[in-house]
Amino acid sequence: MTVDIAELKKLAGERAAEWVESGMVVGLGTGSTAVYATRAIGQRLQDGRLHHILGIPTSEQTARQAQEAGIPLTTLDDHPIIDLTIDGADEIDPHLNLIKGLGGALLREKIVAAASRRMIVVSDARKVIAKLGTLAPLPVEVIPFARRPVYDYLTSLGAQVTLRRDRELEQRPFLTDEGNIILDCTFPQGIDDPATLAQTIIAQPGVVEHGLFLNLATLAVIATPDGLQILKRSEI
Ligand code: 5RP
Repeated sequence: MTVDIAELKKLAGERAAEWVESGMVVGLGTGSTAVYATRAIGQRLQDGRLHHILGIPTSEQTARQAQEAGIPLTTLDDHPIIDLTIDGADEIDPHLNLIKGLGGALLREKIVAAASRRMIVVSDARKVIAKLGTLAPLPVEVIPFARRPVYDYLTSLGAQVTLRRDRELEQRPFLTDEGNIILDCTFPQGIDDPATLAQTIIAQPGVVEHGLFLNLATLAVIATPDGLQILKRSEI
């Protein structure tokens, strides 16, 4: 049986959108899974199942998708507390700790997640792993001026470090919505102690943020070929 990954992503995104209630401020995640939640929220607004929703997008791309879906947008200046955020992930461990940022939006995603009362992660089952760092590299967002010292620092921590390149213009570095670069860090044995690594990385001047999302997700909606799995960290 061939599994249509896009179908699984759609299933997870649309299921997560069912947790959105009228009157909520909703954090809108970035990526090919989160977009299904954004579209489903838009659909529910259009057909009257939801009203008075305000969205806070985690990237310029998501802002465009939300506008296309007819979701009114707001900002953290006007709504510093978000009721619920729905976002994708690149890895999900059994404690619902995550690696995020392969889509390049980790900085705004983490700001939004940290401002949220609850965060639902949406994914297909391929990204559920026992140990962080075994499937995806850990993205680290860095101010361009600090590229070399941060590269050397991350290497000294045991990471194999790669400068992320622009998807269309390979000779250029990828630039985030904030104009920063991303250094992707592969840890050959995976990440043994994510909390200590998170503190160690953020201590280096020039590092803006990293893709370890620890104790932020409250629930995960995982689409498997056999149906949906809901993983909980705390009651939602
Ligand atoms: C973007 C992210 C995405 O949520 C993550 O990369 C998952 O994306 P997708 O659903 O397309 O696999 O962290 O910065």
